[in-house]
This record gives sequence, C-alpha cells and structure tokens, in this order.
Amino acid sequence: MTVDLTTAVLPASDQAVQTANSCLRGGGLVAFPTETVYGLGADATNGAAIARLYQAKARPAFNPLIAHVADLEAAQRIGRFGPAALQLAQSFWPGPLTLVVPKTESCTVAELATAGLGTVAIRVPAHPVAQAILRALGRPVVAPSANRSGHVSPTTAAHVHGDLDGRIDLIVDGGPVTVGVESTIVGCFDTPVLLRPGGVPREAIEAVLGAPLAQPQAPAGAAPLAPGMLSSHYAPRSAVRLNASSVTPGEALLAFGQPLPPGSEAASRVLNLSETGDLTEAAAHLFGYLRALDGKSPIGIAVMPVPTHGLGEAINDRLARAAAPRP
Ligand code: TXA
Ligand code: MG
Repeated sequence: MTVDLTTAVLPASDQAVQTANSCLRGGGLVAFPTETVYGLGADATNGAAIARLYQAKARPAFNPLIAHVADLEAAQRIGRFGPAALQLAQSFWPGPLTLVVPKTESCTVAELATAGLGTVAIRVPAHPVAQAILRALGRPVVAPSANRSGHVSPTTAAHVHGDLDGRIDLIVDGGPVTVGVESTIVGCFDTPVLLRPGGVPREAIEAVLGAPLAQPQAPAGAAPLAPGMLSSHYAPRSAVRLNASSVTPGEALLAFGQPLPPGSEAASRVLNLSETGDLTEAAAHLFGYLRALDGKSPIGIAVMPVPTHGLGEAINDRLARAAAPRP
C-alpha cells in the first residue's frame, strides 16, 4: 500500500490549480472539490496513475471510474451521445449528473478506468475549482469520491485528509461542498436507466426526457450495471437503524424535520439534517453528520424517516447503504 507520500493541502487559488496541474501531469493524485463531493483525481489517460488511485482508495479494480471533463465538446471526444444523452447533457451540464454512453473510437480514457466495459461514465462538474483544474489539464480526469473504499464520501477537505493523508499527493481545499450527495448516474442505453440516484432528482430528468427512467435490471448472478453499487457502501462504523419512530436511551439521533420522536431527550447526541424539512439542506448535511455521529454512541445511530421524492431518493439510497450488513 502507498502510505509514504507527503500530502500537501492548499487553499483553492490560481497557484493551487497550477500545482494540481503539474501534479496530474506527473501521474500524481489530487483531491479537489466538486459541487457533489470531493473527488480524487488522476489523469484519465495515464494507466499507471489510475492504478495508484485504485491502490490509494483500496478500491476493487472491477469498479469503473467517472471521467470528468470541462464541457460537452470534450465529452463528445470520448463518448457517443445519442439524442437522449444530448438532451440530458444540454439540460444539466455543468452539474451533478453523470451519463454512461458508448466509448468513441478515439476515447483516450485508459482501459483500467472503464474496467474493460464498452461504455464510459462522463461528468461535467460545475464547481469552479474542478472546472479550472479540468481546463488547465485539457484531458479527462477520473475522479471517484476521495474516501477510502466503503467509507462515507467526503464533503470537506478535512474528511479527505482523515481518509487519505499519506496516500495521495495533494488536496485542494475549496471549502464544504454544496450538493452533498454524489451525481445522479443515467445509463443512456436504448431506454435511459437510472443507475444511481443523486444530485439531480429523478423527476427533473424525467421531465426533460418526457418519459420515466427505467430501473437497472441485472440478470441474477450477472455483474451489476453500475458495479460500484455494492450494497454495503458509505458505511459508518456504528450500527445504523432506519425509519426510527422512537429513540433508545444512549442512541445517537440523525433527525429530519420536527417534531423529534419520543426518547430524543435521552439520545447521546442529536443532529438534524434539516429542521424545516428541506431536502436540499438535508443532502448537504448528510455525509458530514453521519461522520460526526459515528462512534459517538455505544448503541448506534437512529435515523428518522426522510421523504422519498426529489433529493430524498438519493438520501434514502445512501442511508440504506449505510445501514446494510457489512461484508
Ligand atoms: O458526484 C460524483 O459522481 C463523484 C464526484 C467526485 O464526481 N464521483 C463519484 O465517483 O461518486 P465514484 O467512483 O464514487 O462512483 C462512480 C460510480 C460507480 O458506482 C461506478 O460503478 C459507476 O459510477 N460507473 C462508472 N463507470 C461506469 C460504466 N461505464 N457503466 C456503469 N457504471 C459506471
Ligand atoms: Mg464513492
């Protein structure tokens, strides 16, 4: 394992972007903010850099990576966009949407990053620091969330530092992210498929397509369509109990809205994702609060019900993974 690097942390600035650029050009690993979560970037055309990235995250190598580019033009050099993909790109890029499309003949993304698939996952992030890094490099950057594989995704530079200090070259600190859950992933196949709920609500995508998104259908025993969707993911160390209608004394409480359930007075700690029941605010707080409550109760974390519409679909997806049995 790579544990002997010195990890520099630089506040976001033109200078930091230049340092990130030379680091990526040299095959290094740079964590940077996107509007969803912090990403761990490597030059997508450099197989050796990608191998180091998998190692730094301790990520199973069969799990492919998202290629980040600055705009649709750059995206079309690596992926083939049919009418639906084009419509979604034009509506939601730059932003928290990833599109899985067939690779072009001239796709420069290394095979290791696409796990040998004929498709490539592409995202155009909106965050100004991510944009500056992508424009400076002028090549696609693969960037999974900048956490150790299986841990909760990072929404601040301090989270990245806690997980990856000594394993990567540089962290560019652009402050806390705004969206707080990862991008929505849509597979642009014959019928567009929702591969992962995320920062763009399903309803917004369906409104643009004028049709419902299909659910992924992997035949029993086959590799899942989005191989990263392992059931236990985003796992805190503490046990997580969903849809809690009461709190056991000593449990930590991850609340949503008001009023709090009976027993809350005896909770070891209470954090409210959004006192007013706002799903956008709740998404932005989700991963940070899971980290903050982790290990703070001998019993575990009780989570109040969160509505399933809009960003609630992504929030419930991540909570279900946090509560899933650990391997
Ligand atoms: O918001 C995000 O998407 C963040 C930021 C950093 O951009 N990135 C992120 O990456 O969440 P990661 O590696 O944690 O998740 C990427 C997901 C995985 O579930 C992976 O299996 C899926 O994308 N994926 C990548 N390429 C794919 C492909 N060709 N077909 C299907 N799924 C793919
Ligand atoms: Mg991840």
